[in-house]
Amino acid sequence: MNAVVLLGPPGAGKGTVAEVLVDKGYRHVSTGELLREQIRLGTKLGLEAKTLMDQGQFVPDDVVVGMIRDLIESVDSGSMFLFDGFPRTLVQAEKLDELISDLCGTLKNVFLLECPDDVIVSRLSGRRTCSKCGAVYHTAFNPPSDDDGCDQDGCELVQRADDSEATIRKRLLVYAEQTAPLIDYYTNKGLVDTVDATQSIETVRNAVLEYIA
Ligand code: AP5
Repeated sequence: MNAVVLLGPPGAGKGTVAEVLVDKGYRHVSTGELLREQIRLGTKLGLEAKTLMDQGQFVPDDVVVGMIRDLIESVDSGSMFLFDGFPRTLVQAEKLDELISDLCGTLKNVFLLECPDDVIVSRLSGRRTCSKCGAVYHTAFNPPSDDDGCDQDGCELVQRADDSEATIRKRLLVYAEQTAPLIDYYTNKGLVDTVDATQSIETVRNAVLEYIA
């Protein structure tokens, strides 16, 4: 098992970059998307997570690590994983190291998408997501070709509940407190490749692909 991690503040473009790595054979694992799936299914886990997510708070480490462990153990051991939004705390990073080590795998790269707060607020305020497949758009920077729906399946595009400006600001604070320390954690392991995420979507994607090549 090999893995790469997409690290960066909310709205830096992790999900948008992930699309090109999926084309390269990576299995995209977004903990945010896994949690939203639990919310859509109306499970107990989903209901508990929704309250925290709507407030811009993190879901407890043991819940998220449990989801990741179940997923890793349920797929082919030769898979290449692309973790998006995980790990998000030092505890999660240490647990991921343990999971990878148990499977004799390697964490190959940590891509750090750097983006200032003002750009993030504008990106998340204009983000629209397909209500069915989760495809991500932006009203100005990455609009769907047909205003009425998703390019892939025609379904309705919606705004995420946590994309209000007040919640975005809260998420940025939580990122600074709990996730930014991972930059040093992975830098000390020599794993961090930094990308200027303020550039165009195509330029950011190409920068990540160059590191992978
Ligand atoms: P999650 O879904 O992971 O949200 P996030 O990390 O806040 O990241 P986003 O999905 O908001 O942004 P992104 O970086 O993927 O940007 P995107 O590509 O969409 O998590 C949500 C919540 O779940 C968390 O707050 C927490 O509660 C919980 N959670 C999740 N994981 C957890 C964990 N491990 N532990 C505990 N709790 C967890 O792009 C954003 C917008 O910008 C889009 O509109 C896009 O079109 C546009 N855009 C992207 N790139 C560019 C560009 N280069 N130029 C112009 N526009 C661009």
